Amino acid sequence: MSLGADDHRNVIAIDGPAAAGKSTVARLLAAHLGALLFDTGSLYRALTLAAGRRQVSPDDERALARLAHEIEIEVRPGSAADGRLYSVLLDGEDVTWELRSPAVEQSVSKVAAQPRVRDALLPHQRRIAAGGSVVMVGRDIGTVVVPDAGLKVFLLASEHERARRRHDEQRARGGQATLDEVLADLRRRDAIDASRATAPLRAAADAVMVNTDGLDVEQVVAEIVRRARLVTTGRDPVAPPARG
Ligand code: CDP
Repeated sequence: MSLGADDHRNVIAIDGPAAAGKSTVARLLAAHLGALLFDTGSLYRALTLAAGRRQVSPDDERALARLAHEIEIEVRPGSAADGRLYSVLLDGEDVTWELRSPAVEQSVSKVAAQPRVRDALLPHQRRIAAGGSVVMVGRDIGTVVVPDAGLKVFLLASEHERARRRHDEQRARGGQATLDEVLADLRRRDAIDASRATAPLRAAADAVMVNTDGLDVEQVVAEIVRRARLVTTGRDPVAPPARG
């Protein structure tokens, strides 16, 4: 029996606050399962970059929605040997690292809070979800984009741990921000993401909560794989065999 295009049993949704380790975990998970990785934050970031370049204000909802329909954002598997998880092309130009620039960090949550922007980017995300085995990362995947995903995970980590990880990432690429500045940016984005009226950052009622504090990425992936097997087979591969 083949699964229909509307069947999302092969989608794993991973949501959570900024720098909770979602992308890193999702990449290993996707590789382990032979699934596609789709980091939806790259769509919001690419639109924010395009808006900045064309001097469209992050508050101009109509212009942003129009721009979202005009630009072409393509996400490809990582290729360059510079530690990237994937490559993002904006109208054919490789903008993978620019998406992580302070200017984009500063405005992305404002852009993403605009309801028409979210509407404009939804069909693209749903098209990819319909394509088969995919690990989708974001803020509203389990609640709005693919509410019938086979497995929904909400990744958590303490603020301090998240700031430390993001600070390390940025420094590895030559970033100058201090740990306190990184922490302030995460807090600011999370506050906007969690309080917006449309598709706010929150866990779906049936999401599995995974706190990554003190766990390394392999342990987190193993836990999610265990949960995914539980969903598909109904059996827990690490549970002791039932007695009697
Ligand atoms: O990597 P990090 O967790 O810092 O951010 P990201 O996943 O690239 O997302 C950047 C921003 O895009 C978030 O702070 C949200 O404002 C927005 N976003 C969203 O609103 N919905 C999504 N599904 C994904 C990202």
